[in-house]
Amino acid sequence: MAPAMPQSQESAPAKGRFITFEGGEGSGKSTQVQRLLSKLAARGIETVATREPGGSPEAERLRRLLLSGAIAPLGADAEAIVFAAARIDHLDKTIRPALEEGCFVICDRFIDSTRAYQGATGKVDASLIADLEKVAAGETMPDLTIVLDVPVDIGLERARGRGEGADRFEQEQKAFHEAVRQSFLETAKSEPQRCIVIDATQPAEKIEQQIWRAVEKRFLKGDEDVGKPRRKAGASAAKAAKRPPRKKSGKIAP
Ligand code: TYD
Repeated sequence: MAPAMPQSQESAPAKGRFITFEGGEGSGKSTQVQRLLSKLAARGIETVATREPGGSPEAERLRRLLLSGAIAPLGADAEAIVFAAARIDHLDKTIRPALEEGCFVICDRFIDSTRAYQGATGKVDASLIADLEKVAAGETMPDLTIVLDVPVDIGLERARGRGEGADRFEQEQKAFHEAVRQSFLETAKSEPQRCIVIDATQPAEKIEQQIWRAVEKRFLKGDEDVGKPRRKAGASAAKAAKRPPRKKSGKIAP
């Protein structure tokens, strides 16, 4: 096994990797995103943590509109289009530049959430979903999608336990959340090279181990030049200053 050793900035360009997390309400995505970020950092790999909707300043503005319900009166198609518009900016400003730099991009929700929340719930036609996906994501598909699967009742109970005010999408009926869950499972079944499903009712440590095994197996086992080594403090400060706002272990600052 060849561990991903830190390499000099002058070596051949490293390959970034795009990892997305998907799952219904209360599936524990945020916890697992944080744990994966820590493990990658410990391995010396630079990461960018981001989320959808949002992940760039303009997309965060659209996020606020979407989650407040302000777009809903325009109809489901318009809502799907706004999710796609946010995605276009997020990819342009945050995801693609980070991948080009060789970072591992860890994104909390991506295209599969649109397929599930807008498509599978019967609100938006599958052909519009597919077209929006093509326009927004294009070639930039995730290298790995981790679906955290939890039965709807358990997930909603957990989400309620967090005591957060329910946003526009959390308020939907149980049948809606069931359709969302089935959509994630169906996508994973139809795209097994990209997706893995993890039973999110397991203890967090076990889930973390399973995710790490999958990431290691896919990206960190070969001799490939994978991932950009983390910069030493003070290195490339000018370059770093040009980047969009990002947190090493958290969501993008709006
Ligand atoms: P968020 O607060 O990020 O919730 P979670 O912790 O569940 O990820 O809210 C994002 C909401 O937006 C979530 O309910 C799913 C919904 N959503 C869509 O409906 N379509 C999409 O394309 C995306 C990315 C999210």
